[in-house]
Amino acid sequence: MMIRRSFLAASALSLLCAALPAAAQSPVVIKFSHVVAKDTPKGLAADYFADLVAKRSGGKLKVEVYPNSQLYKDGEEMEALQLGSVQMLAPSLAKFGPLGVPDFEAFDLPFIFDDYAELHKVTQGPIGKALFRKLEPKGIVGLAYWDNAFKDFSANKPLKTPADFKGLKMRIQSSKVLDSQMRALGVNPQVMAFSEVYQALSTGVVDGTENPPSNFYTQKMHEVQKFMLRSQHGYLGYAVIVNKKFWDGLPADQRKILDEAMVEATKYANDIAKKKNDEDVEAVRKSGKTTIIVPTAAERLELKKAMAKVHKEHAGRIGAELLQSIYKETGFDPDKL
Ligand code: LMR
Repeated sequence: MMIRRSFLAASALSLLCAALPAAAQSPVVIKFSHVVAKDTPKGLAADYFADLVAKRSGGKLKVEVYPNSQLYKDGEEMEALQLGSVQMLAPSLAKFGPLGVPDFEAFDLPFIFDDYAELHKVTQGPIGKALFRKLEPKGIVGLAYWDNAFKDFSANKPLKTPADFKGLKMRIQSSKVLDSQMRALGVNPQVMAFSEVYQALSTGVVDGTENPPSNFYTQKMHEVQKFMLRSQHGYLGYAVIVNKKFWDGLPADQRKILDEAMVEATKYANDIAKKKNDEDVEAVRKSGKTTIIVPTAAERLELKKAMAKVHKEHAGRIGAELLQSIYKETGFDPDKL
């Protein structure tokens, strides 16, 4: 009797499984790891992408988003992608140097873009595509560029002119251009994972840093930084990337779903980026914890002049030809300040 009952149960189960669409049994899982909060342009866009893919694929594809360095932090996530432990990332463009592709550090150059419109000529045009081709020998495919915003400096003392920066220790991302940018201001730069910045600021391991407002606010840096200078001296945005072997191994119809969802998620990301950052500047202001200093045009020009030499210092590493092609799009001329 016992045997018969369990036989019936097993048969019923196998019938049920056969009746389910294949997708419900084993969706293709795409782990998407990132280091920022959910309520940031990147966090929101990653979730938006995951929702679209779930709907469009009827459950055949499942994007699992891991925010806030939950799975991997800076310095770990690129390797995890190459090893296939995660399938998708969206690191900032400042984080491709250690991979051996310093070309992306062009985006870190101070004042190279005046606004999003200038930037998009590069990220949404042939230069952006050519840069993605450099990732393929590393086993990585670039899918899209997502915006965050232009960065502001912060510290526990008021910052305005280059002289105010002298001697400070500041956290930077792993970019040689950012290292030089800080040194040009007399700052001692410290490379550090994003997940460690709040702690380092609160314990005084570093005195200050630079961030787009969305990262500053959502990591609660306003609790541990008394002043923010709205310098908007450099850009911070992302490349959404996938493991090439995984990508090439997907059936064409699934890749199409992902490609189309990515186009829509990119539009969404780039539509909300400015608004989200503007809201977060207001949230910082309302917190009453960080004083926001807006530089005059003359003060901003002084910062620009102090940092301009970084362009020439890195032309060789980044590639003079690439830089000239970007300058051509944006009108930036490091010799004319
Ligand atoms: C940082 O490390 O400051 C940023 O790259 C974090 C991010 O992903 O926006």
